Amino acid sequence: MLVTLFICPICQSPLQPATDTWRCDGSLHPKHTPHPFDVARQGYVNLLPVQQKKSKAPGDSQQSIIARQRFLTAGYYQPLKDLICEQMAQLLGQNKTGTDNERAEINWLDIGCGEGYYTQAMAQQGIIDNLIAADISKPALVELAKSSKIKDRLWYQQGANQKNTNKKTSIYPLVTSAAHLPLSAGSMHGISSIFSPILPEIFADMLTEEGYLIIAKPDIGHLMSLREALFDSVREHDSDKFLPTLAPHFRLVATHQVINALSLPADALADLLTMTPYAYRARLENRQALLDSAATAPFATEAKFVVYILQKRTASTLDADVQT
Ligand SMILES: C[S@@+](CC[C@H](N)C(=O)[O-])C[C@H]1O[C@@H](n2cnc3c(N)ncnc32)[C@H](O)[C@@H]1O
Ligand SMILES: [Zn+2]
Repeated sequence: MLVTLFICPICQSPLQPATDTWRCDGSLHPKHTPHPFDVARQGYVNLLPVQQKKSKAPGDSQQSIIARQRFLTAGYYQPLKDLICEQMAQLLGQNKTGTDNERAEINWLDIGCGEGYYTQAMAQQGIIDNLIAADISKPALVELAKSSKIKDRLWYQQGANQKNTNKKTSIYPLVTSAAHLPLSAGSMHGISSIFSPILPEIFADMLTEEGYLIIAKPDIGHLMSLREALFDSVREHDSDKFLPTLAPHFRLVATHQVINALSLPADALADLLTMTPYAYRARLENRQALLDSAATAPFATEAKFVVYILQKRTASTLDADVQT
């Protein structure tokens, strides 16, 4: 692993991972004071200083994390997971040539990773060396760290006694804000933001030259019958509206759509309502009527997603764009 992959969220000095406590070297601190960050029992590291916290418990709540974990592990969004993994494998495939000793390590950031349904699938492919799983929600990282530990994927479980040929993806579960990523500039070969925050300038800064960005969003018509049952008038998702904000830093390589029919029994529907923030705005009687009807027959709806593949603009492509 690169020594300079992580930086201290307080003084930006290089930050060294270790089994018990991560420490910065304090080199950029006015008094050269190193900052320690303890590794939690479950295996995550809290790199969110209080001054970067906008609320007491930022990010998704424990309740929505657990509901999402149940819903996703039941496989309802598996087609999206498969597409994301296929795309990632294609993008990184060309980097995976040569023996493990010859090639540079591949680093990937999954921002707003939640409890890690997509993150674990990315790791499963064995293409990435260092997978940074970052989210502002502590309960999300607790779950992600627990499942990583069971699968022997935590960074400190990838010991020197492991043969290189057997090397797995190392997962680093970090509580952090997307706005203050504790990562060195230019260190990531790719970033994924699956239904999560998008910060064009910060992402471009973290990526290597020509690094990739994968974004997943709900598409027009996503869960339409569910929204019609909950609300009197339905506002449409405008999936593309963020694209202009990315244009100065990224070029759009491809767009993919995923559509899958869902047939949801009452317990899965209840989980979907809990993990879907807008469902809270629905009238209580509409929610209840929906759940009552699913108790007798599964609720039919369609999941529709759009996945954007982008690549960081390099100095030469920026020049080319200016000339055309
Ligand atoms: C809709 S969830 C998606 C989770 C996961 N990617 C998935 O699809 O299962 C959005 C996630 O972004 C996280 N999040 C929200 N604001 C954030 C921020 N400023 N920095 C990092 N994570 C953030 C939330 O805690 C939540 O886990
Ligand atoms: Zn520091």
